[in-house]
Amino acid sequence: MTDTDVRRTLRVLAGMKQAGEPIACLTAYEASFARAMDRAGVDLVLVGDSLGMVVQGRHTTIAVSTDDVAYHCRCVQPALTRAMLAADLPFMSCLSPLQALDRAKRLMQHGGAQMVKLEVAEGAGAVIAALGGQGVAVCAHVGLKPQSVHKLGGLRRQGEEPAAADALVRQAVECVEHGADMVLVEYVPDELARRLTREVPVPVIGIGAGPHCDGQILVMHDVLGVNDHPPKFAKNFLREAGSVEEAFAAYVRAVKSRAFP
Ligand code: KIV
Repeated sequence: MTDTDVRRTLRVLAGMKQAGEPIACLTAYEASFARAMDRAGVDLVLVGDSLGMVVQGRHTTIAVSTDDVAYHCRCVQPALTRAMLAADLPFMSCLSPLQALDRAKRLMQHGGAQMVKLEVAEGAGAVIAALGGQGVAVCAHVGLKPQSVHKLGGLRRQGEEPAAADALVRQAVECVEHGADMVLVEYVPDELARRLTREVPVPVIGIGAGPHCDGQILVMHDVLGVNDHPPKFAKNFLREAGSVEEAFAAYVRAVKSRAFP
């Protein structure tokens, strides 16, 4: 088990994949909760564009801007002493490699992010390669991509049919070939996530993707039971905990012991 005091970097997280030690991740949007997560042993904190829904109260993530994400990164970053900080590139913020570089620069220089995450869309390979070429760590988000909610007709499970499952694994492999350092796979069948986790050499973090990924992530509000419409795969860890920090610690223990999901 990796020493809890060791500062989480990509190298440390990659070593955890190799060692078969699950990686515990959560989203955060401000300092107090982020500090509690850091103390509770969370390995990676994501300032996700889910902030559009859980912080701004919108119905989707689409209206979130790069400046919104950078602002919340600035709130979270000083609270982290050991967890790695990742930040979302919002809807249509990576239409070209140049645009993605500009947005990543903002998230890293103004927000202190150590990695950027993008929902994989047309042209993602060139964007990932350009980011990697400038020394930016990248997480490729595949499976259910909430920024595509209207095209998908809802936040629906992806990769159910064999052809769709094959395409999804191929897409993740191509992202890694273009230089992605991590893959996040959302709301797909367990078996598909297991296959993807075996086929790519970088850490695969799952959400609603079963127990076979290298790590798990949940939205903080779901872990604390303050989302009126949590996804089916979420779990309220606060119900049986005495405090917010203990709820985060219970989540970390459950991920590390593979009791969750
Ligand atoms: O924005 C977000 O919170 C996400 C989740 C999948 C963790 O991308």
